[in-house]
Amino acid sequence: MPYLDQNLVDRLDKKLKQLNSLRPLPKTAVEKLRDQLRIEMTYNSNAIEGNSLTLKETFLVINEGLTVKGKPLKDHLEAKDHYSALSYLYELIKHGKKNTLSEHLIKQIHTIIVQETDKEWAGRYRNSNVIIGGADHTPPDALDVPTLMRDLITWFSKERKNMHVVELAALIHHKFVYIHPFFDGNGRTSHLLMNLILMQAGFPLSIVLKNDRKKYYRVLAQADKEQYEPFVRFIAQTVEHSLDLYLKTLTPTTKKRETFLKLADIAKDTPYSAKYLNLLARQGKLEAHKEGRNWVTTQEAVERYMKGRERQRDV
Ligand SMILES: Nc1ncnc2c1ncn2[C@@H]1O[C@H](COP(=O)(O)OP(=O)(O)OP(=O)(O)O)[C@@H](O)[C@H]1O
Ligand SMILES: [Mg+2]
Repeated sequence: MPYLDQNLVDRLDKKLKQLNSLRPLPKTAVEKLRDQLRIEMTYNSNAIEGNSLTLKETFLVINEGLTVKGKPLKDHLEAKDHYSALSYLYELIKHGKKNTLSEHLIKQIHTIIVQETDKEWAGRYRNSNVIIGGADHTPPDALDVPTLMRDLITWFSKERKNMHVVELAALIHHKFVYIHPFFDGNGRTSHLLMNLILMQAGFPLSIVLKNDRKKYYRVLAQADKEQYEPFVRFIAQTVEHSLDLYLKTLTPTTKKRETFLKLADIAKDTPYSAKYLNLLARQGKLEAHKEGRNWVTTQEAVERYMKGRERQRDV
């Protein structure tokens, strides 16, 4: 397992198994969760690339067909296109095979993502060079894009048997935006591709939050220099967050649910300071996720971390 901490891998596997043990999942509850995540991902993915709609406005545009006064038409169209692309993804998962990816599929997803805003280039690789605003990395020459995309698929076919699926999904995400094969919509398409791989393996939709944009750009820049661990861990944490949300919502209420609290509140009842818990959370050693600007975790998660530490010492 080259890029992911074993602790985090074990946790993700355990939580996926837990989710699978609840299958068949209660239909209404799952539909509600999916609707929620679909709007949240549409908002976050579009907001990261500069779309001005808020989460609430995205909800209104998609569910009520409303137009938000003072916001560009393009932002409305992007919201709708993203939502359609996600519907397409869900259909693929329902009928599709496991662990598949092709250039055809990538172009199909891209076509939907920009169908209302960049029809001319929908599903077509760029024919001139581009830069990424706010990043040092300059994507490869347009002439090389077709070959690099073929190589990407070959790489995927080879590695899908060797790697943990979360690593695979994260690396596809990075490799894809590194190539930046299209004129527009690369960021959004990469999030969808990553989720295609994750959802084919049974994981729920994972979301890179707008709030984490700075960190997202920082870990991508590290991955450009072949330091993949921080980016893979960053993605793994988004996966864990979605798993937690599903488990929290779908676990029968007769079983005890864990309560997520701010680190300062949890620290009081543990041998650790809030600062140290924060470090463990950022390193992926402690089960935690961010709510707004704050990391949250549970008392039980800290106890599991402590038990894990003891086990490591015993070995
Ligand atoms: N250092 C980096 N290396 C590779 N990719 C990066 C880096 N920094 C940012 N990115 C990716 O580039 C995207 C932004 O680039 P750009 O604005 O060209 O995207 P785009 O093609 O317009 O896609 P979208 O419209 O979906 O954001 C980010 O969303 C991110 O996925
Ligand atoms: Mg763009």
